Amino acid sequence: MNPINTNESLKNKDSEVNWNVLWKEAVEKLPKKTSSKSWDEIAPQFDEWMKKDDYPQELVSKIKIEHEDTVLDIGCGNGVITLPLAAKASSVTALDISRKMLDILQEKAAAQNLSNIKVINKGIEDVEAREIGYHDVVVASRSLNGIADIQPELEKINKIARKYVYITLWGVDNRKFESEMAELLGRESYQHPDYTIVLNLLHEMGIHANVEPMKSNTRNFYATIEDALDRIKWRIGDLNEEEKAIIKEHLEKSLTKNPDGSLSFSRSNSKWVLIWWEKSKVNNEN
Ligand SMILES: C[S@@+](CC[C@H](N)C(=O)[O-])C[C@H]1O[C@@H](n2cnc3c(N)ncnc32)[C@H](O)[C@@H]1O
Repeated sequence: MNPINTNESLKNKDSEVNWNVLWKEAVEKLPKKTSSKSWDEIAPQFDEWMKKDDYPQELVSKIKIEHEDTVLDIGCGNGVITLPLAAKASSVTALDISRKMLDILQEKAAAQNLSNIKVINKGIEDVEAREIGYHDVVVASRSLNGIADIQPELEKINKIARKYVYITLWGVDNRKFESEMAELLGRESYQHPDYTIVLNLLHEMGIHANVEPMKSNTRNFYATIEDALDRIKWRIGDLNEEEKAIIKEHLEKSLTKNPDGSLSFSRSNSKWVLIWWEKSKVNNEN
C-alpha cells in the first residue's frame, strides 16, 4: 500500500481560491493607509495614543530573542516595539514609510542611549530582500493590514528571516467602532480582511504558522471628544461639519468616562492576532 504523502495532501497549490486577490479586494475598500503623508500627519497623535496602549508589552514578551540576534522591525512606527527589542538584541533595522515616525523613534532611542538601531525610510514593498539582508528575527507589528498585494511581502519577510517571524494583524470583528460611526452617517462600512487569508497564503508557501489571539485592549482610550473624533476621521475618512456634529453628539452619549479622566468606547473591543513561525520548520520545497 502506498503511504499517504501528508505534506502533498496539505498543499493547496491547485486551490481555486486566490487568497491574495481576496485580501487585495478587501484592503482596497478601506481608507488608504499606505501613504507616508497620512502616517506623517498622524505621527504625533499616534505617539500620544500609544502611551495608553498595553499591546507592546504583550507582544515583546512573546518574541524569542537572544542578545546576539539581529532584528528587522517592519513598519516600526514610533518604536514601541523597536526600542524594547533593541535593548535585548544585538541590533535592530527599523523600516517605515513615515519620516516623522522615524524621527520620533530616533529621539526616543537617543534618550534611552540606544545606538544599535538603523532606520530605513522606505515601504517594505520598495525594498528587496538582498538590500535589507538576513535578520534573525523579523517583526511586522500592526503594519501589514494596509498592504494590498500582501503575498510578495510575505515571501520577502520569510526570505529575510533566519530564525523567527512575528506578524500581527487585526482579528475578527475588527472595526466595530468604525462600523457604528459609518452607519450613523449612512456610509458603507467594511472590515479589514480576515487574518485567516494570510494563514492560507502562508500555508501555500509551506509555512504552517502558529496563531495566538492577543489579550491587550489596544487603543480604546481618548483624552477628549476631539481626540476621539480625530481617531474616527483617521479610521473612516474625512468628515464634513455636519457629519462631525452627528458623530460628536453620539460620542457625548456613548463614551464612558474612566477614573483617570480618559474616555473609552466599550464596544470597541477588537483584538490583534499574532501569527508566528520558526524558520527552521518551513517546508523549503515550496
Ligand atoms: C499602526 S502603526 C504600527 C507601529 C508599530 N509597529 C506598532 O506596533 O506600534 C503602522 C506603521 O506602519 C508604517 N507602514 C504602513 N505601511 C507601511 C509599508 N508598506 N512599509 C513600511 N511601513 C509601513 C506606518 O508608517 C506606521 O508607522
